[in-house]
Amino acid sequence: MSERMTAQSLKGAKGQTPLVWITAYDYTAARLAEEAGVDVILVGDSVGTTLMGYPSTIPVTLDNMIYHATLVRRGAPNTMMVVDLPFLTYTNARDALANAGRIMQETLAEAVKLEGGRRVLEAVEALVRHDIPVVGHLGLTPQSLHTMGGYRVQARTHDSIQALVEDARALTEAGISALVLEGIPDRVAAYVTQEVHVPTIGIGAGNQTDGQVLVFHDCIGLSAHLPKFAKPFADVRTATLEGLRRYRREVQTRAFPDDEHSYHVTDKEWQAFWSEVERRSPSPS
Ligand code: KIV
Repeated sequence: MSERMTAQSLKGAKGQTPLVWITAYDYTAARLAEEAGVDVILVGDSVGTTLMGYPSTIPVTLDNMIYHATLVRRGAPNTMMVVDLPFLTYTNARDALANAGRIMQETLAEAVKLEGGRRVLEAVEALVRHDIPVVGHLGLTPQSLHTMGGYRVQARTHDSIQALVEDARALTEAGISALVLEGIPDRVAAYVTQEVHVPTIGIGAGNQTDGQVLVFHDCIGLSAHLPKFAKPFADVRTATLEGLRRYRREVQTRAFPDDEHSYHVTDKEWQAFWSEVERRSPSPS
């Protein structure tokens, strides 16, 4: 088993073999991710859309994140775990510290992630000053869904590219340990990757970043709809549907459970039971 990554070793991994990140929200997925040898598990607030059935990540609460992160920690005790700070939990340094503090203490995470650039610097600086490693997140930031006007690719104009680069520099100077780049053109992500000294982790950002992250359900082909950038590496949805339909058929036709999946009693014990039943039941007159 390779050594568990830390915020320190994460920084040192820049420019090496691309880092493999995946989201997870529960014990089973976390166990599989650890067994597969991923570098970092992200307990993303995408739990809201993938697992909880919300239309966005906005309804996800701090308590939701803490609950899911504790399940993941139990499943992957030897893998670095990063936990998202959900919507409106880091609008100022005091809230960021209190909320990230709960995540670190109650889930045993190694780092927190938050969305945004210069507007969240106060929170980032406070967390880093108090020894809470922070992962930044720029580009398509799902918590800004309503101001972005939908889930749209970002940084496609020269001034928005410039703004993103400045946000990336500011976050890096504030001491982040890594930077997630989501939903931006590949050339922009490659440029930011050159410009900052922390690893960049792409999702819908081309293949020149220092690593990649995918949502667990997209990665294994469990999601009904996939974004353009997400490649399913297995077809768990089809396999699951086939299995469930076969189960339904076999229950309805009594093909399941068959002999192999049933418990048995010996003829001797069964006959003894019946003799007892007959002895106790009143004989017809
Ligand atoms: O919430 C999440 O899963 C994320 C990743 C998509 C980067 O932030």
